[in-house]
Amino acid sequence: MKALVYNGPGKKEWVEKAKPGIEKPTDVIVRITKTTICGTDLHILKGDVPAVTPGRTLGHEGVGVVEEVGTAVRNFKKGDPVLISCVTSCGSCPNCKKQLYAHCYDGGWILGHLIDGTQAEYVRVPHGDNSLYLIPEGADEEALVMLSDIMPTGLEIGVQYGGVKPGDTVAIVGSGPVGMAVLLTAQFYLPGRIIMIDMDPARLEMARTFGATDTVEVGKEDPVARVMEMTNGMGVDVAVEAVGIPATFDVCQKIVAKGGNVANVGVHGAPVELHIEDLWIKNVNISMGLVCTNTTPMLLKTLRSGKVDPAQLVTHRFELNDIMKAYEVFSNAAHEKAMKVILKA
Ligand SMILES: NC(=O)c1ccc[n+]([C@@H]2O[C@H](COP(=O)([O-])OP(=O)(O)OC[C@H]3O[C@@H](n4cnc5c(N)ncnc54)[C@H](O)[C@@H]3O)[C@@H](O)[C@H]2O)c1
Ligand SMILES: [Zn+2]
Ligand SMILES: [Zn+2]
Repeated sequence: MKALVYNGPGKKEWVEKAKPGIEKPTDVIVRITKTTICGTDLHILKGDVPAVTPGRTLGHEGVGVVEEVGTAVRNFKKGDPVLISCVTSCGSCPNCKKQLYAHCYDGGWILGHLIDGTQAEYVRVPHGDNSLYLIPEGADEEALVMLSDIMPTGLEIGVQYGGVKPGDTVAIVGSGPVGMAVLLTAQFYLPGRIIMIDMDPARLEMARTFGATDTVEVGKEDPVARVMEMTNGMGVDVAVEAVGIPATFDVCQKIVAKGGNVANVGVHGAPVELHIEDLWIKNVNISMGLVCTNTTPMLLKTLRSGKVDPAQLVTHRFELNDIMKAYEVFSNAAHEKAMKVILKA
């Protein structure tokens, strides 16, 4: 089979590789029908995630069809259409019992990280019973690919941890796929105002079509001054950080209102300066974490009922065979006006 393999910093290749087989009785082998590329894959390719070793197949998102199941798998059979979660979980360890799937004793984010991932014709999914979801008949596969990672990330780490409530003023710093997923899922809770912040005017324009009430273009405007002005000096109830750099965390800690929440979603590679001397007296909460994907069943229901349409995030489509071209487009997202790319096998 073909697979997109990481060969060390800056190097990737679309190569012929052995098709994965069952290794443990709880494994499921899935034939990929659609997958995508995540910002995290770009981080890996830069060499920012040293746990990824050369030869590793990348990718942690996708949908497909069950090809083979291990002897202990009870919920799936050959031919079932499935959604693959970016987080693998056994469902029975102490952390899984708390739905803290990100910290499963025998799972977590391992696909395309510690084991071979989904940017291939086939993938082995450990603990298939708890890590896969049966695709409801008639569901839009492209929308479902957004449910592998970005939609649960936006909902759990941005919206739920941020405690978005009806009427709230929410600011989302970063309008990439994850920031957009926060924007889409925040609307489940009917916030009064959603301010999207980014330096890319095309992304901000897209955000308005997805429900942003206000936008702030970094570079043209100072995000802190602008948000404080927009909120009559009060700041925002929920400030979501969806970039992963010190500057954007700093914006969030400066625009959060008294009694508000800072929900950090971005993956940080460097320390940030926490202004506890200003924050302590403001009664604010700061949250952060790795997505657990425990909201996937809920998201599947909202998708089915038409309450959310994450397929809007798809801007480009390629054949899986053209994945090298897709990486080029996704790596130049601003220039290409790309949000999410779909790779179809
Ligand atoms: N916590 C989790 O479980 C989890 C899961 C998935 C992704 N993430 C992280 O979420 C973050 C966002 O992911 P993404 O795929 O949307 O990334 P992305 O790189 O596609 O988007 C980031 C956006 O931030 C904007 N930006 C950059 N600097 C900015 C600044 N100074 N002010 C305002 N906007 C700025 C960029 O223009 C871009 O639109 C990343 O750090 C990613 O690693 C976290
Ligand atoms: Zn991802
Ligand atoms: Zn577990």
